[in-house]
Amino acid sequence: MELYSTDTKAHDESRQGEAFESTPMERHFDKFFYVESYGCAMNFADSEVVASILENNGYGSTRKVELADLILVNTCSVREKAEQTVRKRLTEFRKLKEAKPGTLVGILGCMAERLKSQLLEEEKLVDLVVGPDAYRTLPDLIAEAGTGQKAVNVILSREETYGDISPVRLDSNGISGFVSIMRGCNNMCSFCVVPFTRGRERSRDAFSIVAECRDLFEKGFKEITLLGQNVDSYYWNNPETNVSVTFAELLESVALISPVFRVRFSTSHPKDITDDVLHIMAKYANICKHIHLPVQSGSSRMLQLMNRTYTREWYLAKVARIREIMPDCSITADIIAGFCTETEEDHKQTISLMQIAQYDLSYMYFYSERPGTLAAKRYQDDIPELVKKRRLQEIVDAQWILSNESNKRDVGKTFEVLIEGNSKKNADEWMGRTSQSKVVVFPKGINNLKKGDYVHVTVSNFTKGTLLGALKNN
Ligand code: SAM
Ligand code: SF4
Ligand code: F3S
Repeated sequence: MELYSTDTKAHDESRQGEAFESTPMERHFDKFFYVESYGCAMNFADSEVVASILENNGYGSTRKVELADLILVNTCSVREKAEQTVRKRLTEFRKLKEAKPGTLVGILGCMAERLKSQLLEEEKLVDLVVGPDAYRTLPDLIAEAGTGQKAVNVILSREETYGDISPVRLDSNGISGFVSIMRGCNNMCSFCVVPFTRGRERSRDAFSIVAECRDLFEKGFKEITLLGQNVDSYYWNNPETNVSVTFAELLESVALISPVFRVRFSTSHPKDITDDVLHIMAKYANICKHIHLPVQSGSSRMLQLMNRTYTREWYLAKVARIREIMPDCSITADIIAGFCTETEEDHKQTISLMQIAQYDLSYMYFYSERPGTLAAKRYQDDIPELVKKRRLQEIVDAQWILSNESNKRDVGKTFEVLIEGNSKKNADEWMGRTSQSKVVVFPKGINNLKKGDYVHVTVSNFTKGTLLGALKNN
C-alpha cells in the first residue's frame, strides 16, 4: 500500500506511467517511439529531453504503444513498489515485442542506473539500458541494439546538464512547464537512492535556463516550475566572467521575464533555503507563495540517523521564518514513517511537528529499504510492516485534519487563480491553481474566459483536495 495526497504537481514522485500525447508530428516520421515515465518531475522533464534527441534522429513520438518501433520506460527506484510496477510493465512490453518482432524496448532513468545491465543480460526484459546522464548516446545505442548487440550506457557524468537541448513539450497543457536547473544530489540522506542513481550535483548554465523560460513564455506558457533535488544549492559559475549565480539570483532573473509569468520551484532542502530566497519570493508577486520543505521526521534522533543535517528545532525555526517573511505562503512536506529504530515516541514527535508546522499538504510514505544506501548498509530495517503502515495511516489522518483546517481558513478569501483547463468532473467548470498551489474549481458562467487566463475567485467551500468557489465580480 502506498499512501499519498491527492494534489500532484512538480514534486510528486508518485506519478506513474504517464505516456506522452501524440503530436501532429506523427504524420512526418516513419519511425516512432513511445515513452512512459515514472517517478519525480525531473524524470518527466528528462523524457522531454529524450524526445528532443529522438526527434532530431528521425523518431516521431506516439502515444499508441502498438505503433512504436521503440518503447522506452523512464523509471524510478525511490521505493521498492516503484520498481515492481516497472517490472510488470516491462513484462507486458516483452509480450508486445514477441507479437511484433523488431520492436526495441529500452529502460531509462534511475532503475537503469541502479540495476545496470541486469535487466538486459540476466532477465532479458529489455534491449537497451540508458542511465540519466547518457541520453545523448541514445541514437548510437538504438543502432547497436538494432543489430542485436548489448546496448548499455550507465556512465554518470559530473558535467552533463543537457543545458543546450530544447525539450519537446509533448504532454503539456501549454500553460505550465517544467525546467530542470540542476542534476544529481550531493546530500547523502541515508534512506535515499537518488545520489547513487543520479550522481553528483551540478548546476545548469543560468543563461540557458532563463532563455528556456523566456521561450516558454513567448510560446504562451503562464507558469514554470524550476526543478532540482535541492534547488537552494543551485550555484553556477560563469566560466567566461567568473561571476557566480545563486538560486535567489536565478529566481529573480526568471521572475523578471514577465509579471504575468508565474514561477514555482521544487524541491527545497531545509538546510539550504536562505533568507535571500525568502525575500526574493516576497518581493515578486509572480513567484508563487508555496514552499515544498520535506521534513522526513519530527524526531531529532531520527533526523540524525537519516543524515538530514538539521534538528526538529532547526526545522521549526525555518518554518517560523517563512511565515514571518511570507504569512500567506503555503508549506508542504514529505514524511517517512517507520525508518530504522523509530520508536512510538519518535513517531509522536513527527505528528506533533506536523501540527506545529501546519502543513497544507504532505506526501507520506513508509520506509522502503533501498539496496546500496547508507541506511541499508548501517541499520537494520527493523520496524515490522504492520507497524510502519499503522504509523503511516496515523500520519495521513493527521495531515487530513491539517489540510481540512487549511482549506477552511481559505473560505471567504479571494485568490488570483491561473486557469489550467476544464474541471475533470464538469466541463461547465474551470480548474485552476492559486499561488499557494491549491486547486480551485469554479463555474465558468457566461464569461469569455480561456485556459491561461488569470481570474479572481472567492472560495466558498471545499472538498478533500479542492477548493470550490465563484468568480469575483472583477
Ligand atoms: N530531494 C528531495 C528532498 O530532499 O526532500 C526529495 C527527493 S525523494 C525523490 C522524494 C521523497 O521520497 C523524499 O523526500 C522522501 O520522503 C521519499 N523517500 C526517499 N527515499 C525513500 C525510501 N527509501 N523509503 C520511503 N520514502 C523515501
Ligand atoms: Fe535524496 Fe536527500 Fe538528495 Fe533529497 S536531498 S534527493 S532525499 S539524498
Ligand atoms: Fe526521481 Fe525516482 Fe529517480 S524520485 S530521481 S526518478 S529514483
